[in-house]
Amino acid sequence: MTETKNTPEYTFTTRLQPPPLTTSTTILYPTPENPDPATNDPVFSDGMRIRHAVFVEEQHCSAENEIDSDDERSWQWVIYASKNTHSPGQDESNRLESFPVGIIRLVPPPHAPHEALLQDTTSKNTNLPKYDFSHEPYVKITRLAVLPDFRGHGLSKLLLRTAEDWARDNRGAINEMLRRVARDEGQEDQGIKEWNGLVGLHAQVQVEEMYRRAGYETDHHLGTWYEEGILHVGMFKRLRLEHKT
Ligand SMILES: CC(C)(COP(=O)(O)OP(=O)(O)OC[C@H]1O[C@@H](n2cnc3c(N)ncnc32)[C@H](O)[C@@H]1OP(=O)(O)O)[C@@H](O)C(=O)NCCC(=O)NCCS
Repeated sequence: MTETKNTPEYTFTTRLQPPPLTTSTTILYPTPENPDPATNDPVFSDGMRIRHAVFVEEQHCSAENEIDSDDERSWQWVIYASKNTHSPGQDESNRLESFPVGIIRLVPPPHAPHEALLQDTTSKNTNLPKYDFSHEPYVKITRLAVLPDFRGHGLSKLLLRTAEDWARDNRGAINEMLRRVARDEGQEDQGIKEWNGLVGLHAQVQVEEMYRRAGYETDHHLGTWYEEGILHVGMFKRLRLEHKT
């Protein structure tokens, strides 16, 4: 499913990158020495370049943590811009080559227990499990970023809507990935709860209002915490799923 958005100057199109562990592609970090790793899905590499530009270079998050253990099992969408050479609505041949300008990642459940975020990271003696299987499963919106020159055109709204619509239509794939991790963690027989439309995210506090306008509510019970030196809050939204049998 491809979403598009038109402005007088650009046509924007989303492309989906499925979880690398389902496509046998690698997730190598593009570097100046290896800017286009041949075994990466090209959409993943495009997304990583945006993540690097926005989170590492602009927001000074650590490059070591930019690819994490969630990337293997996550879906990502990259928005590509192509400049309209004449006027909008003309056919493809009137557009120049497209280039990536925005990214969003959807991580299926399960996730680390919330307490893991709040604990002293220097403390090695924690009895917390790797994943929380006890609370309701949720898909997690992460790595939402738009390049500075393309902000303010509604692209983050398009990315959020694309990921949410996809999740609504693909609960089977989400639950399959949840069960896969549960099996790997030896949880298979312990009555895993299925995903039922809950979407969560960790919002940098300066964009809490943006997510609130998109229908997310802050869960004040979760408090606030720092990730990569940036203050965050937890927010949730419930998608209405069709109850197919
Ligand atoms: C946050 C970010 C993704 C917004 O992207 P964008 O494409 O400019 O956002 P949009 O144009 O789709 O704006 C959507 C809505 O959010 C609002 N908004 C956008 N950025 C905002 C901000 N920093 N603070 C408050 N509201 C904001 C817009 O006014 C718009 O409101 P509307 O629905 O009433 O029209 C972009 O600024 C960015 O990449 N920032 C750096 C990375 C980042 O902070 N990511 C969030 C991690 S939690």
